Amino acid sequence: MTGTADHTAAPAPASPRGAANRRGPFRAGERVQLTDERGRMNTVTLADDGEFHSHRGVLSHGELIGRPEGTVVENSAGFRYQALRPLLKDFVLSMPRGAAVVYPKDAGQIVTMADIFPGARVVEAGVGSGALSISLLRAVGDEGRLHSFERRAEFADIARGNVETMFGGPHPAWQISIGDLAEELGEHEAPGSVDRVVLDMLAPWECLDAVATALTPGGVVMCYVATVTQLSRTAEAMRADGRFTEPDASETMVRGWHVEGLAVRPDHRMVAHTGFLLSARRLADGSERLAPKRRASKSEYSEEDLQAWTPVALGERDVTDKKLRRAGRDALGLAERAAGATPPADAPARAKTPAAAPADPAPDAASEQPHEERP
Ligand SMILES: C[S@@+](CC[C@H](N)C(=O)[O-])C[C@H]1O[C@@H](n2cnc3c(N)ncnc32)[C@H](O)[C@@H]1O
Repeated sequence: MTGTADHTAAPAPASPRGAANRRGPFRAGERVQLTDERGRMNTVTLADDGEFHSHRGVLSHGELIGRPEGTVVENSAGFRYQALRPLLKDFVLSMPRGAAVVYPKDAGQIVTMADIFPGARVVEAGVGSGALSISLLRAVGDEGRLHSFERRAEFADIARGNVETMFGGPHPAWQISIGDLAEELGEHEAPGSVDRVVLDMLAPWECLDAVATALTPGGVVMCYVATVTQLSRTAEAMRADGRFTEPDASETMVRGWHVEGLAVRPDHRMVAHTGFLLSARRLADGSERLAPKRRASKSEYSEEDLQAWTPVALGERDVTDKKLRRAGRDALGLAERAAGATPPADAPARAKTPAAAPADPAPDAASEQPHEERP
């Protein structure tokens, strides 16, 4: 008999963290994206007695709470808005932040090219505002593990708030440690125990020794860097370490298109440069990297070269502590409200965040924040 294989799906597990608050009618506490007829977007956090004010009138949040996604509503002046939950790509570009985030186009590439699989044991540094952490957590799932390292506690607060807002509470796979990855990784992760490492920081070459020690044979290191000088130095440091395969470098450009009748053309504007990706695999201990023999080219750095890669020379802007603290309060406040909006089946047990219920952060009024350029 040539029977067909039974492809019936296995019974679905209990709802994965964050799935339930991505569905169903709008609830108080949720972030909702309002788009007007000209395509302008605003993101509001729904509150029972909340109102969205613009120079074109007032929209009561009550018009949205309990209604399905995709509803079109009118404000007091008859001005119409289409209401949808922000997708991940919208959320990360409108959430509170203190440092440049990994753009959605790059996060998608990182998840695929670094082969972040469900159940993977992943290390990430730095955590910044947590944009990449969200994509990594979605990819490893509830059964995986993401250990994020961040040097500055203020950034960790912002990231925690953003992650909890996205998932409606703490994610079971996530742990943040404060400190420098180069010093902390070996304290927390046994040698050879990590499947994937993703670095988004100014000087990834300083962490490669710790990364190579933590990675399992065949494990992937993926670095996201903004400038060609960082790219070159990181690639040479990978080669010099000797425990990695030949590195692969790429950049990702996504160009939108205007498609209307026969007026079909590329968009006039695009996000052109964000960063480069550089990845390599961990060799087995005792094995040597195989690489094509090349003519010797300059790969040693003079003092002058090294000075060109200091944070200031690379254009890293120092974010003030005050700005970071404010973004942290905003992010944790939004997380508190999102937890209140999460349906009971999905609601995780969570520690109460000490921050008092905050006013919505500035992006609530106009979420189309200018995207921070990387250095
Ligand atoms: C550009 S941000 C990361 C953005 C983040 N990937 C996101 O998508 O929101 C870089 C972060 O790396 C942190 N950092 C830099 N070097 C580090 C290190 N050696 N260990 C841990 N964190 C580090 C910085 O404090 C900063 O928060």
